[in-house]
Amino acid sequence: MLIVMAGLPGTGKSAVAEALGRELGAPVVSVDPIEAALWRAGVTRDQPTGLAAYLVAETVAEGVLALGQTVIVDAVNAVEPARSQWRSLAKRHDVWPTFIETVCSDPALHRRRLEGRSRDIEGFPEPTWEAVERLRAEFAPWTDVRLVLDTAIDLPTNTARALGFLIA
Ligand SMILES: Nc1ncnc2c1ncn2[C@@H]1O[C@H](COP(=O)(O)OP(=O)(O)OP(=O)(O)O)[C@@H](O)[C@H]1O
Ligand SMILES: [Mg+2]
Repeated sequence: MLIVMAGLPGTGKSAVAEALGRELGAPVVSVDPIEAALWRAGVTRDQPTGLAAYLVAETVAEGVLALGQTVIVDAVNAVEPARSQWRSLAKRHDVWPTFIETVCSDPALHRRRLEGRSRDIEGFPEPTWEAVERLRAEFAPWTDVRLVLDTAIDLPTNTARALGFLIA
């Protein structure tokens, strides 16, 4: 299976992805730490490191799919080109991409989580609430069938829902 997370920063993609990864024994390929690694390697921020990180993640995910194993991709996937990248990857491996979008229905809770967490990704600045609001305005509408999880609900409940969606 190819499982692809999507959603604004701080909505809980990584938390859900990691819970699913534990349940399924599947690797999580996360785009933000890859981009941070590119910066640490000296690739400058005027370079398209965001795109590069998505392509590196795709390459890693492709290797896992080639072994016939499940992989979870953890990325914002705000725009259509990003989403179609995963559709094409899935097609090449004869699987369906399962998209799981996280939203947080309580803006105050979303903001508290965003500003209260520490991801400890070396060299990666935490997005501000203003940046999240900007991205919300740019977040392209979806066409795909997907599971939308409201992370105002607790993580175990959402993890169980995701597992149910995956086997349905
Ligand atoms: N029910 C819940 N579901 C998901 N995350 C939760 C929940 N309750 C608390 N959190 C916390 O919310 C914070 C934000 O979640 P997370 O870092 O997974 O967001 P994200 O979507 O991966 O953001 P980014 O795109 O910036 O990586 C984390 O500290 C996470 O542990
Ligand atoms: Mg994350």
